[in-house]
Amino acid sequence: MQVHRFTPLLVYLSHLWTLLLLVSGHPQHGPCQLIQRSALCNSRRLSSVPAGLPDNIEELQLNYNHIQTLQQDSLQFYPSLHTLSLACNSLATLQSNTFQDSRLLENLNVANNNLHTSYQETSKALQTLPRLRVLDLSVNRLDDEMAATFLQNLTSLEYLNLSGNLLQRLDETSFRDLHKLKELDLQRNIMFEIDGAFDNNPKLQRLNLAFNYLPCLIDFHMTQLVVLNASHNFIEWFISRSDMNDTFQLETLDLSDNRLLFFPFLPNQSHLKNLYLSHNSLRFYQHMVENDTILNSTSTVEFYNLEKYSKSNVTAQLWDENLHGDISSVEILDLKANQVEYLPRGFIQKMPSLSRLKMCTNCLESLNFTSEEFSASLYELDVSNNRLNEIAADEGTLALLGNLTYFNLSLNDLSWLPSGLFSSLTSLRSVDLSYNSIDICRPGEAETSTDFFSACVDWKDVVSLRQLYLKGCTLENIPQSAFSGLSLTHLDLSDNPGLIVKESLCGLSRTLQHLGLGNTNITDFDFSHFQSLKFLNISRNSLTHLPSSILNLDLKVLDLRDNKLFTIPSAQANTLAPRLHTVFLRGNPFNCCLTEWFRTFETIDMVERSDIECEDFLSRTHRVERFNYALCLEEGGESKYWLILLIVPLCLFFVIVSIIFLITWKPEILQKSIKKKCLKPTSY
Ligand SMILES: *[C@@H]1O[C@H](CO)[C@@H](O)[C@H](O)[C@H]1NC(C)=O
Ligand SMILES: *[C@@H]1O[C@H](CO)[C@@H](O)[C@H](O)[C@H]1NC(C)=O
Ligand SMILES: *[C@@H]1O[C@H](CO)[C@@H](O)[C@H](O)[C@H]1NC(C)=O
Ligand SMILES: *[C@@H]1O[C@H](CO)[C@@H](O)[C@H](O)[C@H]1NC(C)=O
Ligand SMILES: *[C@@H]1O[C@H](CO)[C@@H](O)[C@H](O)[C@H]1NC(C)=O
Ligand SMILES: *[C@@H]1O[C@H](CO)[C@@H](O)[C@H](O)[C@H]1NC(C)=O
Ligand SMILES: *[C@@H]1O[C@H](CO)[C@@H](O)[C@H](O)[C@H]1NC(C)=O
Ligand SMILES: *[C@@H]1O[C@H](CO)[C@@H](O)[C@H](O)[C@H]1NC(C)=O
Ligand SMILES: *[C@@H]1O[C@H](CO)[C@@H](O)[C@H](O)[C@H]1NC(C)=O
Ligand SMILES: *[C@@H]1O[C@H](CO)[C@@H](O)[C@H](O)[C@H]1NC(C)=O
Ligand SMILES: *[C@@H]1O[C@H](CO)[C@@H](O)[C@H](O)[C@H]1NC(C)=O
Ligand SMILES: *[C@@H]1O[C@H](CO)[C@@H](O)[C@H](O)[C@H]1NC(C)=O
Repeated sequence: MQVHRFTPLLVYLSHLWTLLLLVSGHPQHGPCQLIQRSALCNSRRLSSVPAGLPDNIEELQLNYNHIQTLQQDSLQFYPSLHTLSLACNSLATLQSNTFQDSRLLENLNVANNNLHTSYQETSKALQTLPRLRVLDLSVNRLDDEMAATFLQNLTSLEYLNLSGNLLQRLDETSFRDLHKLKELDLQRNIMFEIDGAFDNNPKLQRLNLAFNYLPCLIDFHMTQLVVLNASHNFIEWFISRSDMNDTFQLETLDLSDNRLLFFPFLPNQSHLKNLYLSHNSLRFYQHMVENDTILNSTSTVEFYNLEKYSKSNVTAQLWDENLHGDISSVEILDLKANQVEYLPRGFIQKMPSLSRLKMCTNCLESLNFTSEEFSASLYELDVSNNRLNEIAADEGTLALLGNLTYFNLSLNDLSWLPSGLFSSLTSLRSVDLSYNSIDICRPGEAETSTDFFSACVDWKDVVSLRQLYLKGCTLENIPQSAFSGLSLTHLDLSDNPGLIVKESLCGLSRTLQHLGLGNTNITDFDFSHFQSLKFLNISRNSLTHLPSSILNLDLKVLDLRDNKLFTIPSAQANTLAPRLHTVFLRGNPFNCCLTEWFRTFETIDMVERSDIECEDFLSRTHRVERFNYALCLEEGGESKYWLILLIVPLCLFFVIVSIIFLITWKPEILQKSIKKKCLKPTSY
């Protein structure tokens, strides 16, 4: 607020300053802001490079202007320039001598322009920059030939951005002269072929090929590459060259959103840490090799390279799981949304540093911690949305998983779990067991089960546990001691219709911040003890009125969707509004004439605001936002509608009847009255 008050003064002062500068003989900087040796002239509707800036400026930013041609002499006064940024103009040409005096220019950004129009001339201008290190040519409608022309002889280039152009195929001539290139961004082109394109770029470390049309990456042999992003293509095969002894420097490989059927054939030796493979059609085929009934189908696939430059044909032994390559440094493995039915024997053991395994949305049927031997650094394990009906683990194995913090088992078919599963995991912070048919152990029940499996879960003594999600577990009676000894901050029990919680939540009243009781049929729960509660979901519970026990809480988010509320009394709304940030109200049969709360809540975020509806006296549905409140009486539920609907037809009826009466029975009166009103009397 205060800033606003001072703005006029600041403007005035800055005018005064400019005036003083003029008077004292300093050059006017026109539309630009000067910060040390940088001139910032962005979004100033300029159509040319401003003259008159200090001649020692080193950086000039002219983004978001209307410059169409960079003239010969535009930059002649700024010989010290090493960074020039002209993104988002309508730049069509850089005249060939533009940079004759800009020998020091290292960084040129001409993204989002029309450089395709006179690329020949522009490329001549680029040839005159002996020190150019960073060049952004993204979004300029450049095709293969134009790009090749631009890049001739740019031997000093280290960072090149060609994203958002029209490149289709690259070959070994495309980047031939860029011997120093370190980073290349080629995302969002229409490339379907890259053949030996990077063989002359021995320093290339980061390559982005995302959002293209590449069908495969075979014969991968860029040992120096650290990050390769080939996500969002149509890649069916990723195959590294296997006859190389060198250690690949690759640390991050992103092949997500492709069409992989096989685990990528990774280099024999690498430092690969982050492997992203989500959204493919990947699975493992080891059991087919071991299976006697396997058909004599092809077990190798060969890629014949028809180009003369190729050094070898690529052959892959499809079913040989050893070809997974070196995964010994992998820390993050993202296999989300694939078709993995099982993990090959020894696969997990090959990753002693594995910290995050994301296997959500696959077809896993069982998980055996004992045989998989997860590493002690495992931190996050997400096996949600699979077909798990069995999890096996012995105590010794579980004791090793001392770093497991996030464990997501939701959306499976689990009805049995290893006894004491959670009690053994000492760092466990968040467990999601939602949508499994799992019950909570009654006192003594867990101890008495002697076998390895237990049909109920307990989390006794898991002092680290903070977040517990038990949605849709067909829970009914929650034992009183269910959460004793825990310091939960999040508990979600939604989608358990008919839930009876009784006293079980009492122990959590101090710590609980986030409570989900949606679709549980809970009507008379006393929330008043939960003084830390910030988020409450009591949607889908047929509530006819707001529980008064929530009024004293310091709630930030309240979900009341799909209940039977017909109003929220003003007193309640006024109490809630100052604290709430967000409220969900859709799907209640609100009375249109009792929507004072809607105006009270205007100050907070009403989610799906325009979808909140109400019913008028005749059970017609309106949007609360649009409803004309004037049609209602000041107080109470009686609607003015009712009156209007009664009175208007009655009045109309009387008027019509009297008119008819007048016309038929007293024509004289009518004539007289007409005559009176006419200026020129007429004779009848
Ligand atoms: C690139 O450099 C070579 C050798 O210096 C020279 O012959 C050639 O003309 C240059 N090409 C362009 C387009 O300047
Ligand atoms: C390349 O340019 C695109 C579009 O201008 C931009 O989104 C992207 O971040 C740039 N890439 C790099 C590595 O800066
Ligand atoms: C790969 O590129 C896509 C598109 O730019 C981006 O969303 C994704 O985060 C990148 N992957 C990595 C590992 O940086
Ligand atoms: C790889 O190393 C082995 C043994 O060190 C050697 O015999 C072989 O020739 C090397 N292969 C290549 C392609 O360098
Ligand atoms: C790389 O691994 C494959 C498969 O295990 C093997 O056939 C090949 O000889 C290995 N190459 C080197 C150079 O070690
Ligand atoms: C062999 O294949 C059959 C049919 O696909 C399958 O039922 C069986 O479990 C497989 N055996 C092994 C050992 O994987
Ligand atoms: C499998 O291959 C062997 C040798 O090539 C052949 O004798 C056998 O008939 C084949 N079996 C099937 C089921 O095709
Ligand atoms: C690759 O395969 C083709 C087709 O079979 C063959 O003509 C060529 O000699 C092979 N090249 C190498 C290096 O093996
Ligand atoms: C889990 O793996 C261990 C070790 O391989 C094995 O002894 C145990 O029987 C397996 N459990 C199940 C239920 O398959
Ligand atoms: C546990 O996991 C976290 C997160 O990945 C990591 O920073 C930490 O080093 C791991 N601790 C151990 C003992 O592995
Ligand atoms: C667990 O996984 C499910 C499905 O993938 C997801 O919806 C849920 O948010 C996850 N739970 C947590 C606590 O992240
Ligand atoms: C929910 O409560 C209503 C009214 O108390 C009752 O008729 C209904 O059967 C309950 N539903 C369940 C699933 O318990």
